[in-house]
Amino acid sequence: MKSYLVQFAQAHPKFRKAELEALAELYNIPVDLSKHNESIPFLEIKLKDDDQARALVSRAILSKGIYELWGSGTTYENLFKDIREQSQSKFAQYKNSSFKFEFESFKGRQSHEAQMEIMESLSFLGLKGRINLKTPDETFTIFEEYQVYGMEKAHTPKQLWFGRLVQLSERIRNNIVEKYDLKKRSYIGTTSFDAELSLVSCNLAHVQEQRIVYDPFAGTGSFLVAAAGFGALNIGSDIDTRMLSGKDNVNIATNFKDYGTSTQFIDVMTMDFTHNALRSNFVIDTIICDPPYGVREGLRVLGAKNKEKAAGRETNVVNGEIAHLRRDFIHPKKPYELSSLLDDLLQFASVRLPIGGRLAFWMPTANDDFEITLIPQHKCLELKFNLEQQFNKWSRRLLVYVKRDQSYIGETRNGLKELNIKSFRERYFHGFSESSR
Ligand SMILES: C[S@@+](CC[C@H](N)C(=O)[O-])C[C@H]1O[C@@H](n2cnc3c(N)ncnc32)[C@H](O)[C@@H]1O
Repeated sequence: MKSYLVQFAQAHPKFRKAELEALAELYNIPVDLSKHNESIPFLEIKLKDDDQARALVSRAILSKGIYELWGSGTTYENLFKDIREQSQSKFAQYKNSSFKFEFESFKGRQSHEAQMEIMESLSFLGLKGRINLKTPDETFTIFEEYQVYGMEKAHTPKQLWFGRLVQLSERIRNNIVEKYDLKKRSYIGTTSFDAELSLVSCNLAHVQEQRIVYDPFAGTGSFLVAAAGFGALNIGSDIDTRMLSGKDNVNIATNFKDYGTSTQFIDVMTMDFTHNALRSNFVIDTIICDPPYGVREGLRVLGAKNKEKAAGRETNVVNGEIAHLRRDFIHPKKPYELSSLLDDLLQFASVRLPIGGRLAFWMPTANDDFEITLIPQHKCLELKFNLEQQFNKWSRRLLVYVKRDQSYIGETRNGLKELNIKSFRERYFHGFSESSR
């Protein structure tokens, strides 16, 4: 096994390890990530070879790159000694390569002069190739971690690493987070989901090329366009036809066109998820969504609040046709319990996903009443990740489940129903000031 250093992006530290874990599982790479520390953006790991390193990080969103680790130390003197001891045998291989040096520093930085001096000191590597800052054969990076005490700026790093770049991630190589930034997207709405976390959700859900991804609450299609970025074929549905059709000549389909992924857009349809019309043998590899919690959108299903009144309507006739059989008939809708919708979602996933298929969805929870038993469970689905993004008085959690075969015996649980938790919507609009039950 060889040593590598992963450099993380300084974003969503609670999701970084999970993303790598999911990618390792996707590509069948055995790796120990237990040294991960949320407070620093560097992680030493062991892998078989560079191919594994490339596969692990290539499509990551929260990692920036992976480096073959040549040495580490707490001072520059120690670092240089360690490089000589650990990596002398590697020097000859890169002797004639064009190269550049880079610095990646966390919570501090050397002056330009000091950096020049450090690079000069690396002459013992014996690199005789041309320096090429734009397209070097090899990039050698010095990583520095500084310790900050209060407001005081640290001048000397407390930990150093030196590595040869093996693979930059999708985030850096293709600027994917910026590419999918909502500010640059023509069709968005109040429910559009943050691009970075949509992409991370896709990685955790094992979205793959040419596989079918379904978002049953598609809205403006945030997860679908992100999934297309990873090569998936996408289908969505939403009860609100206005969301799907868009406005001013922009809609989900034009977003796909703008990203150059139209061939990966199957379609979206107006449909109540609880009256699902997808044929039962239609293969769905991944379900990924942000269900309606009532904050920016209503949770409604087809049906009449007042059955007697609705029964009267059945005899309504418009232009000689029974009103509810006309194509332009707008079906009545009634409110529905979120807990029941989540039951429906897990049940749907348990039946429609293939073994190993993943369901990923976001669920908001109030911080003062959170109990782990609130997380819904289904006996055929293993909860793989429960990752929290915290806001002031509430959090939203990304829950990722894997469909298991018959030998798996999980529990079925609906915490929202069992604990009789007040609707998230109600608590959100009252500033979480009242009791949750
Ligand atoms: C939180 S939004 C999801 C937004 C979406 N991720 C986006 O990128 O815009 C929830 C969506 O669920 C839809 N919805 C509400 N009840 C539904 C139901 N019974 N069946 C299908 N969609 C429903 C709403 O119209 C809304 O667009």
